[in-house]
Amino acid sequence: MTPRTTDWWRHAAIYQVYPRSFADGNGDGIGDLAGVRSRLDYLHRLGIEAIWFSPWYLTPMADAGYDVTDFRQIDPRFGTLAEAEKLIDEAHQRNIRIIVDVVPNHVSNEHAWFLAALDAAPDSPERELFWFRDGRGESGELPPNEWQSIFGGPAWTRVPDGQWYLHLFAPEQPDLNWRNPLVRDEYEEVLRFWFDRGVDGIRVDSAAMCSKDPALPDYDHTVFPDPHPYVDLDENHDIYRGWRAVADSYPDKRALIGEVWLADPARFARYLRADELHTAFNFDFLGCGWDALALRACIDQTLAAHAGVEAPSTWVLSNHDVTRHVTRYGRPDTSTAAGIRQYNPVVDEDLGRRRARAAALLTMALPGAVYIYQGEELGLPEVENIPADRRDDPIYHRTQGKDPGRDGCRVPLPWDESTETYGFGPAGADRPWLPQPTAWAQLNAAAQESDPASMLRLYHTALALRGEEPALGDGPLTWLPAPEKVLAFTRGGGFTCVINLSEAATPLPPNSTVLVASQPLTGALLPPDTGVWLRTF
Ligand code: GLC
Ligand code: CA
Repeated sequence: MTPRTTDWWRHAAIYQVYPRSFADGNGDGIGDLAGVRSRLDYLHRLGIEAIWFSPWYLTPMADAGYDVTDFRQIDPRFGTLAEAEKLIDEAHQRNIRIIVDVVPNHVSNEHAWFLAALDAAPDSPERELFWFRDGRGESGELPPNEWQSIFGGPAWTRVPDGQWYLHLFAPEQPDLNWRNPLVRDEYEEVLRFWFDRGVDGIRVDSAAMCSKDPALPDYDHTVFPDPHPYVDLDENHDIYRGWRAVADSYPDKRALIGEVWLADPARFARYLRADELHTAFNFDFLGCGWDALALRACIDQTLAAHAGVEAPSTWVLSNHDVTRHVTRYGRPDTSTAAGIRQYNPVVDEDLGRRRARAAALLTMALPGAVYIYQGEELGLPEVENIPADRRDDPIYHRTQGKDPGRDGCRVPLPWDESTETYGFGPAGADRPWLPQPTAWAQLNAAAQESDPASMLRLYHTALALRGEEPALGDGPLTWLPAPEKVLAFTRGGGFTCVINLSEAATPLPPNSTVLVASQPLTGALLPPDTGVWLRTF
């Protein structure tokens, strides 16, 4: 691979491991660090440059590990701290960087701080670390305000002495009070703890929600208020300036990557100013349908917003919170951003996969960094028919199933045909924590590695080219003239990407040779729902 001249986070292809569902080393039905270590060579062959691990810390798993009891311990289901250190080391030996997930908005209700707060009296310093309040109504029987949990139901839970505490997510995830200096100090120590262990970057969970208006005012839930009482408060920027100083105190600077869901690109970009986060996930792109105009507008808007702060863009098609994109793109109506998580009774999976192949070439050719969610390289679809009693996601349960939740994108990966869990666990292992569809037997990684037409091999080819092509990753993009519903751009250096989202085949540009195509090409025509990378002369 040609060494890049820019910092790694400006261009890297980053693979998201959701540890619980990646690979089960000890056979208890739950993915673990031993499983990841046994698959590092797979990731190395895939050609990724960094791994982002969803939380692996001690947790009661009320929200699949996003409810953290102790950031300095690995959950025993996943392994040990010593094993995590080995894993970091083994990844580094393969030139793979490591990003860990830090969750600042809340901790688990089993965290020592919250247990102490429950034992302490109202108005005690222990309670000041969270948002405890008296209720409304004659005897305080009503929650302090009308805020609703993002996972459904009220955002307040009452404790035995009558006070209530705030949780924007599940009741098992009490929100921290970021106005308290102890909270700030503790998180900066947590960052150092992992940076000292060689971690190269931190993914910041729900990064725009930490600060709250201390008046905790009610607001009209049907419109997005400005200002909002807990989304995107100015105080957040102060938190990340502190974190940036920690990251920059390491000679080989470490990266901070925010999960920033904000509709307004200008507000989003403020998190990426020079002394704040290095990059943030771009969810607008993920929310676009398979629609050339919408995608182009989103790309332009994203690049413009990032240019203002000189930060690199990131491109994401799937993650552990949304419907897998093979399924999203296979819906009869993909025109709207609505429903990046919804039931999908009618899906043309072949069409979805065909578009997903083209989308992979699009995202990997765009300026900046690209994220790959485990299993997308296998073309896995969303699993729709998980029985209610096997579903685990609090979103499903707290909405009484109105929202399907996120289990369908978290089903354990199929690796090979060696065991009854398609190689997820060893022979004789316990059943996986979520059931795998039998159709996944055909999608296993080993079979795809030996099939040149597979999704996995497309990812291999594209990632290898992306690593070698100096024009890819960070840098400029120039749109080229193209027919309606066709996206065509050059990245300089004779590199051109064309994606055909129309219903008709479209001619390839003259004087070009094909580097990689998402479908077999016949002659000089690019078929519908197909993408291609070209060398132009
Ligand atoms: C983020 C995570 C999601 C989690 C939530 C609460 O959105 O990606 O999985 O449930 O934060 O921590
Ligand atoms: Ca296990």
